[in-house]
Amino acid sequence: MYVHGKSDPAHNHGSVTHTSCDHGHSHYYKAVSGPSLPMPNNYHVHDWDFNTSVDDGHRHHISGPDMPAPGV
Ligand SMILES: [Fe+2]
Ligand SMILES: [Fe+2]
Repeated sequence: MYVHGKSDPAHNHGSVTHTSCDHGHSHYYKAVSGPSLPMPNNYHVHDWDFNTSVDDGHRHHISGPDMPAPGV
């Protein structure tokens, strides 16, 4: 169940999952976001910077802000 409420301005998020399976392989990653970055209209984003596992001879580097979400 999704509960919309005001969150701690200093919060961050963790994410652990496998990516979708494309071109016959998927990747695993475990990451923690940066702190909440306030935006106009009471929204916020988080920066992410992590590498996936090596599968099929390569890995992916993901960095940058995620999608804006309500609250701070
Ligand atoms: Fe957040
Ligand atoms: Fe890949």
